[in-house]
Amino acid sequence: MATAHLTVDRAEKFRIVCGILDRHGYRPSGLIPILQAIQREYQYLPEEVLTFVATSLDLPPARVFGVATFYAHFALEQKGKHVIRICDGTACHVKQSLPILNAIHGELGTSEKQKTSIDALFTVETVACLGACGLAPVVVVDEQVYGGMTPERAVALVNEIKMQEIAGDAQAAAAAVNGELHVH
Ligand code: FES
Repeated sequence: MATAHLTVDRAEKFRIVCGILDRHGYRPSGLIPILQAIQREYQYLPEEVLTFVATSLDLPPARVFGVATFYAHFALEQKGKHVIRICDGTACHVKQSLPILNAIHGELGTSEKQKTSIDALFTVETVACLGACGLAPVVVVDEQVYGGMTPERAVALVNEIKMQEIAGDAQAAAAAVNGELHVH
């Protein structure tokens, strides 16, 4: 059942990739915006999709992989559902960004090497200055910016997101059960 869902999801995503290629007229000059659009869809650039893009644009795969690895904003590995970015630029570093990073790693069981949590809910990254030094130390969760962060607030935030996810799962499960009850 889960495998069937995965297959459908994969097929749907490939359909979307074809749509993106279509919109860019299969032009090799559109490679970067094509990769950006694909990353928005997948949250990263899967290897099989990059190969598919190379074939579709009639480009050598090495060229497509080269572009994907050259730009820091392209990710070649799958990320968690929520991406936590801890700024470690100078202002944030001075204002103790490292204890925040360590607290988040401790809470999620992540590390410098293992950036994504085992449940694939979170990816933890450090980034250079986010341009909001006045708010230092800064943490960005998905697109939301949090200033004046502390290790305690960071852990509370992570736990709040976990609780929201659990509540969301419970709601989805209840909806599924209700759906089944209505069907029978
Ligand atoms: S150093 Fe963190 S926002 Fe500038």
